[in-house]
Amino acid sequence: MSEAIIRTTDLAKSYLSGDVTTHALRGVDLEIQKGSFTCIIGPSGHGKSTLMHLVGGLDRPTQGSVVLDGTDISRLDNSQLAKLRGDKIGFVFQFFNLLQGLTARENVEVAMMLAGVPEKEQASGALKLLDMVGLAEKADSKPSQMSGGQQQRVAIARALANDPAILLMDEPTGNLDSAAEAEVMEILQGLHAGGKTVVLVTHNNEIAKKAQHVICVKDGRISS
Ligand SMILES: Nc1ncnc2c1ncn2[C@@H]1O[C@H](COP(=O)(O)OP(=O)(O)O)[C@@H](O)[C@H]1O
Ligand SMILES: [Mg+2]
Repeated sequence: MSEAIIRTTDLAKSYLSGDVTTHALRGVDLEIQKGSFTCIIGPSGHGKSTLMHLVGGLDRPTQGSVVLDGTDISRLDNSQLAKLRGDKIGFVFQFFNLLQGLTARENVEVAMMLAGVPEKEQASGALKLLDMVGLAEKADSKPSQMSGGQQQRVAIARALANDPAILLMDEPTGNLDSAAEAEVMEILQGLHAGGKTVVLVTHNNEIAKKAQHVICVKDGRISS
């Protein structure tokens, strides 16, 4: 039986800058089933990132609600929301956002520390995740010594540090060549096969074809 792990109802977000209001999202009803692989596609500037930020509790809606695994996140204060995010969600963004002064392993270890993994398990846990993304041999390299694809795989390992049920990825292959993109996609498909719920924003229709569900966001709404 399928079960919605993410549900949004009439979700809307407007940004006010100066006298100008931008209606980034205009009422989105969305249901994402536990364990599914969903791609979100749509033109640039039409609200995809806004939707990801709201679904992941990184930002608050102007209107409507997000229910994450049974919890209406609008009822949570900021620290409860941060805890829910830390328990359930792993984020990956287009720009890898690794800490430049730290090695791959240390980047993952920091995330494990923040996730409350006991200190003595952090080093082995980080190595295990780097191995899972095929980067065990780069554990002691810094981001500047890695390719974009390798850095993004470190970012994926870091997103897994809290063993999240849901992976939210905003154009994770937007900056990669097609070989690196294929490697990242293989990892994501493996994670999906292992039971994770994967939500992926992409511009690439070939990638979207590999998803179980494709949602098109246009003008702040779901179209088709
Ligand atoms: N923090 C913000 N402040 C003001 N406007 C924003 C902000 N974030 C996004 N927007 C605007 O909201 C619209 C949707 O943006 P976004 O969700 O980033 O689209 P996409 O990810 O599909 O490219 C755009 O017009 C964008 O300029
Ligand atoms: Mg975006």
